[in-house]
Amino acid sequence: MHKISFTLNSHLMEAVVEPSWTLLEFLRDHMELTGTKEGCGSGECGACTVIINGRAVNSCLFPIMEAEGAEIVTIEGLMNEDGSLHPLQQAFLEVGAVQCGFSTPGMLLSAKALLDENPHPTEDEIRHGLAGNICRCTGYTQIVQAVQSISTLPEQEIKVVPWREK
Ligand code: FES
Repeated sequence: MHKISFTLNSHLMEAVVEPSWTLLEFLRDHMELTGTKEGCGSGECGACTVIINGRAVNSCLFPIMEAEGAEIVTIEGLMNEDGSLHPLQQAFLEVGAVQCGFSTPGMLLSAKALLDENPHPTEDEIRHGLAGNICRCTGYTQIVQAVQSISTLPEQEIKVVPWREK
């Protein structure tokens, strides 16, 4: 076992981990952060997407030892500090972009990473940014609409990169 330190959902923390663990395994099985889903387990579906140092990453392929010093955001860290939904989550609800919900956490975090990088993406850029996330309900139209609706907001309302605001 090894001790590593990192920032998880804005909280600096230390954890004792088994080097063979993936980040997904650590989050779900040892932190009880089960909002991050396991789909394929092999980097194909995007259900396990989290944000690491500002980038959308498949946590099923990410070795936990590489989390040392990283800033990690999971779906549990996306909501506002007062517990209200992030504007992206609200937009997903408003346009019906949540169907079975299994891919939704990963979709939201890929969209968040996209908007942090490019707050006003075109439809093509949104589709490209979400290309690694598969929706088994095939509800892509509403998902793209939700991200488009957010991309018209001022950046401070999108709360771009909240973990860097401190
Ligand atoms: S579970 Fe990680 S990409 Fe499918």
